[in-house]
Amino acid sequence: MPRKLFIAGNWKMNTNAASARALAEALVEKIGSVEAVDLAVCPPFVYLSAVGEVLAASRIALGAQDVYYEDDGAFTGEVSTAMLKDVGCSYVICGHSERRHVIGETDELINRKLLKALGDGLRPILCVGELLEERRAEETLEVVRRQVQLGLEGVSGGDVDKVTIAYEPVWAIGTGVVATPEQAQEVHAMIREVLAQLYDQAIAEAMRIQYGGSVKPKNAEALLACPDVDGALVGGASLKADQFAEIVSKGLGG
Ligand code: PGA
Repeated sequence: MPRKLFIAGNWKMNTNAASARALAEALVEKIGSVEAVDLAVCPPFVYLSAVGEVLAASRIALGAQDVYYEDDGAFTGEVSTAMLKDVGCSYVICGHSERRHVIGETDELINRKLLKALGDGLRPILCVGELLEERRAEETLEVVRRQVQLGLEGVSGGDVDKVTIAYEPVWAIGTGVVATPEQAQEVHAMIREVLAQLYDQAIAEAMRIQYGGSVKPKNAEALLACPDVDGALVGGASLKADQFAEIVSKGLGG
């Protein structure tokens, strides 16, 4: 079975109460009934409820940008899986590069979050990707392989299909410098090979691997046409309803 594309918007630490709602409303109007591509948006925690209300009657799913691995208790500032489900989230991003490199999350912490999310019925989007110096040192494949392996540690073959991998080269995130389709395809194919080694060929073939890093309407078509690119995780361009909708339309072949 061909893999269905999955395009998600990561709003990061952007929007306010009014603009988050307005952005969601515009997305519902433009792409709210798209069926051929799976869609999600990941607003800041504080706007999840409001955005979720707007999305409720649409086909656009709600996701969070992070989660903690404990159920509840004295973890000031953290948000649990139950809270995310309570406000209607079905996806959660784990290990975004900004959390790895700005906040300092380790592979071990990311893995704990992913296991907790999966165990509690959320669909994790596991982000992996190399730094510019790692690419220059020709360590890309090694770095990404390690992040995939450690991120998925303890995930069974029966559960792993609920995980989406997002390959996001750190040098392409928010920089306007996008990976070429060839660069993306090379790493995506390698990730699929790693998945086949960790699980089996059928599981690897079924799993979706998104590309992320400066995805824009003008480059989306070529990236989404790569055989192992199964969608996109979009940052900057997901804050503009027109641009996000145009990226989705590229995924629909338009
Ligand atoms: P960008 O962000 O599209 O702004 O480069 C992508 C991401 O970080 O998910």
